[in-house]
Amino acid sequence: MSFHFSRTPVATAPVATTYRRIATPLPVPESLPLLDELAAVETRAMHGQMPIVWDRAKDFQVWDRWGNCWIDFTSTIFVANAGHANDHVLAALRRAVDAELLHSYNYPTEIRARYLTALVAALPDHVDKAYLMSTGTEATEAAFRLMRIHGQCRGKGPGVIAFDGSYHGRTLGAALMSGSAASRDWIRYEDPHVHRFAFPFGADDDNVDWRAVFHAELEALAARGVDPARDISGMMLESYIGWAAAFFPRAYVEAAAAFAREHDILLAFDEVQAGFGRTGRLFAFQHYDVAPDLICCGKGIGSGFPLSALVGRGEILDLPETGILSSTHSANPLGCAAGLATLEEFERHDLVAAAERKGRRLLDRLRALQGRFPDHVDRVNGRGLVAALIFRDPRTGAPDGDTPSRICEEAMRRGVLLVHTGRESIKFGPPLTIDEAAIDEGMDVLAGIMADICGRSGGP
Ligand SMILES: Cc1ncc(COP(=O)(O)O)c(C=O)c1O
Repeated sequence: MSFHFSRTPVATAPVATTYRRIATPLPVPESLPLLDELAAVETRAMHGQMPIVWDRAKDFQVWDRWGNCWIDFTSTIFVANAGHANDHVLAALRRAVDAELLHSYNYPTEIRARYLTALVAALPDHVDKAYLMSTGTEATEAAFRLMRIHGQCRGKGPGVIAFDGSYHGRTLGAALMSGSAASRDWIRYEDPHVHRFAFPFGADDDNVDWRAVFHAELEALAARGVDPARDISGMMLESYIGWAAAFFPRAYVEAAAAFAREHDILLAFDEVQAGFGRTGRLFAFQHYDVAPDLICCGKGIGSGFPLSALVGRGEILDLPETGILSSTHSANPLGCAAGLATLEEFERHDLVAAAERKGRRLLDRLRALQGRFPDHVDRVNGRGLVAALIFRDPRTGAPDGDTPSRICEEAMRRGVLLVHTGRESIKFGPPLTIDEAAIDEGMDVLAGIMADICGRSGGP
């Protein structure tokens, strides 16, 4: 990430609306010692986010200690789907803390039985087992492992198909599958059995024969001597490319699923970011007519408590011997309480339908911005309550990574938190509980900033 948010306090125009309040220069001068303290003792790899000190986050708003308040279009990082500090989740966590069982390793607990039963019941019909962990990367790592174990059981090679541009986490197996060469550099070798396909950008382009695009990748694989029936154990799809909110074309995914079925290859979806309602379905794969063998869940599953899960068909999840697929913090009782309360909130408030409905509004507003700034906004991607504006340089047409960063910084100064990707995109992922009026207000602010920065005006 080459852009650095200014650490010099900048005067702001006062803002006081129902949803936003900006009352100090930003960063807040009094916050600088804390920012310095963190810089001194924390790895710089942790840094790079906007210099505001989060003090409290509730529903779709974030506060600092100095009276500033932002509308949150980040859900931190696609975690607070059920709303920040959701009351029902908080109450469940308080009860769990008061029960004086902070940890139970793999010893049986009632809360784990209740949570897993509810989780499996909430999942698509073909899913009947789950393995609980703490982070998204553990879930994709476990899927990598299970795809290979399953292949091994069938006498197949360890091949896994993954996609350029995808992101699956920071642990070794997840990084080996991830599609950015930079994120694999440190490993200093490539896994010769991970075969990466080009991500099929252009989901809405009906003029492309996406089945043929998929089959061309298979032919290229065959030309390298790879036989799917013999060599490939699994295929891992990130439901959308994170930085761009770019989805797979429907025909491509359905061709991939048919190919996987035909050759006894496990189909895994990385739903760590896309799952739990984000795209207007419980899982993004439900936009397609497919039934993945493995589904990796994280982020929104625990509403902020570190919880993740690999879910799928029992016959696959039960392949490892007893004790092999477990870790110290799997199925922590607090995680189970947070997970169960999250599911209940989804059910009670139909957050999936809310994401679909509010997402239409968000996308309409973003498309209007594209119409207003067509030289700068190359594309609008999104489904449900995840979306991205993709920027290009109006003079060269090349990807423009600078303007989105400047817009994100200015939005912070005006009381709106956007997802800073460090690339040619701005991403939007508010809690699914956000008021539609807050979406509108955030989009009005964004339109004003774009008029200032992109230098053109006119109303959508
Ligand atoms: C699609 C996807 N997979 C996996 C991960 C890794 O999750 P975690 O950071 O919880 O390990 C992320 C995190 O951003 C993600 O977006």
